[in-house]
Amino acid sequence: MGLGNLLRRVTVVAGFCLALLLAGPVQAQTDAKPIDPELIEKIRKANAECFACHTEGGLKAPPVAGMDMAKLADLLVDPAVYSHSYHGNMDCKQCHGQGYVPFPHAAGAAKQVSPCEECHAVKVFKVDQQFDKSVHAQNLKGKMSCASCHDPHVAQVAAKIGDPKAIVAQDNAMCLDCHNSDLRFAQFAPEKLSLKRKRPDIDTIHAWLPNTKLHWGAVRCIECHTPEAKTQSHEIVNKDKAQKNCVACHSTASSLKTRLYRHLATAEQQRYGFANSIILKTSYVVGATRHPVVDAAILALVGLTVAGLLGHGMVRLVLAWIRRRRSP
Ligand code: HEC
Ligand code: HEC
Ligand code: HEC
Ligand code: HEC
Ligand code: HEC
Ligand code: HEC
Ligand code: HEC
Repeated sequence: MGLGNLLRRVTVVAGFCLALLLAGPVQAQTDAKPIDPELIEKIRKANAECFACHTEGGLKAPPVAGMDMAKLADLLVDPAVYSHSYHGNMDCKQCHGQGYVPFPHAAGAAKQVSPCEECHAVKVFKVDQQFDKSVHAQNLKGKMSCASCHDPHVAQVAAKIGDPKAIVAQDNAMCLDCHNSDLRFAQFAPEKLSLKRKRPDIDTIHAWLPNTKLHWGAVRCIECHTPEAKTQSHEIVNKDKAQKNCVACHSTASSLKTRLYRHLATAEQQRYGFANSIILKTSYVVGATRHPVVDAAILALVGLTVAGLLGHGMVRLVLAWIRRRRSP
């Protein structure tokens, strides 16, 4: 091996080590709180007692005879989903109290559930102020709680999910849980109005948005239904204030960069946010900047080109045939 070759290898290895060293602290920062494995094991064991009944498995092989199985079937928690949720490292009893340890459960146990503010006082205070300005505050205050949108056994932190499509799925499911279900919408709709007021169909309301279904998979309801200047807000705005401007997202200064894509590195944002902005700025997108006259002109042009090509080919074939007949 030549000296140059050896040097090159040494530099590559050194570079790799340096990269590892630099990556080390970054890794440590994202996993800020080291979790004690012994404690996790203890919590896992404690929760397994609840999962013995409150899972599909518990439903199939109940550890106790004579339970209200129909009721239990509505009270299932998926252990795998729970472990990935933001409360996944918590003992069920931290929120549900000791009343649920024995079965049959204590009579007053249901009233003992810890309210969110017991642990998230500052956040709840902030969210409440935004909620008071929200469309839901007018008639649903008191009816709608944090848990109406955030299932404490399921929801994950957006930054941890990472993939924008998965974040969109989680956040839109919160809204569509009511806005796509007549039954659940009616449970919350104001009594005095619920007879007259039917749930507006989400696709119909947004028919002005081309590729509506594609948008539901790519952007969140809150992108358009919260004040644009805010990175994150619980102030849901009505139709007068909702975003209708395509360029808010489909431009190089897309608001998505500081919102949905804020958990991504800039290079990654490019992959999601800009492909469509370039299409919209430089050419015309079917269904977006579509114009019937442009469509007709393009069709006519294509038609003429095809006719021209065919005509040319025919003439050449005929001439060749004549030439072949004339030649001896
Ligand atoms: C032996 C089976 C069993 C075990 C173990 C069990 N549960 Fe239950 N749980 C039930 C059944 C059945 C119900 C349905 C209502 C009833 O019969 O009390 C229920 C109801 C509940 C409810 C809903 C109460 C309501 O009125 O809405 C909660 C919350 C709950 N359990 C939490 C827990 C927690 C937390 C644990 C673990 C500490 C646990 N359960 C352990 C069987 C069990
Ligand atoms: C961070 C707090 C928190 C933790 C941890 C928690 N729960 Fe809950 N749980 C709640 C709240 C709040 C509700 C009431 C939801 C509502 O009002 O819709 C609830 C409701 C329930 C219900 C009734 C379901 C229903 O639809 O009404 C069951 C059963 C239950 N929890 C079981 C569990 C089990 C089992 C665990 C542990 C694996 C657990 N919970 C951990 C907060 C928590
Ligand atoms: C008994 C205490 C307790 C209760 C009650 C509780 N939480 Fe939590 N919550 C926690 C802990 C602990 C974490 C994890 C924090 C971490 O991992 O850094 C957490 C994390 C979260 C997170 C993600 C972290 C963040 O702040 O962005 C959200 C969102 C959240 N909880 C919402 C709720 C909601 C909604 C309720 C009420 C239904 C609730 N919590 C009730 C203890 C609690
Ligand atoms: C109308 C539905 C709705 C209600 C009610 C609601 N939230 Fe949220 N919440 C959301 C949505 C949607 C997001 C996602 C916003 C984002 O990631 O930018 C969110 C985000 C959050 C976050 C940040 C989580 C993360 O992934 O970074 C916290 C913390 C939070 N909410 C707490 C609360 C608390 C506390 C309450 C009750 C006082 C509450 N929310 C009520 C819909 C709701
Ligand atoms: C728990 C059920 C529920 C959830 C979750 C929910 N909504 Fe609603 N929403 C309603 C009901 C019921 C109304 C009608 C309120 C009224 O008539 O006063 C409403 C009204 C609205 C309105 C005003 C519509 C109108 O006709 O006045 C908008 C906009 C809206 N919701 C958006 C959202 C968004 C965005 C989310 C998710 C972040 C969401 N909602 C989550 C139940 C819900
Ligand atoms: C691209 C922006 C955008 C997105 C994404 C979006 N909306 Fe809308 N939404 C609007 C606009 C603009 C209106 C008003 C339409 C009109 O005036 O005809 C509206 C109207 C509504 C209304 C009727 C409001 C009223 O006051 O009558 C509801 C309810 C609603 N949206 C809910 C949702 C839900 C739920 C989602 C997520 C599945 C969502 N929106 C996603 C922009 C959006
Ligand atoms: C809240 C942000 C937002 C708004 C407002 C918005 N869009 Fe989009 N749009 C997106 C995202 C994100 C995609 C998906 C891009 C992707 O997956 O590459 C998309 C996709 C599209 C597509 C499909 C492009 C393709 O690559 O297939 C068209 C067409 C489109 N939007 C047109 C519009 C028009 C027209 C408007 C205004 C009436 C509008 N959009 C408003 C965010 C938005």
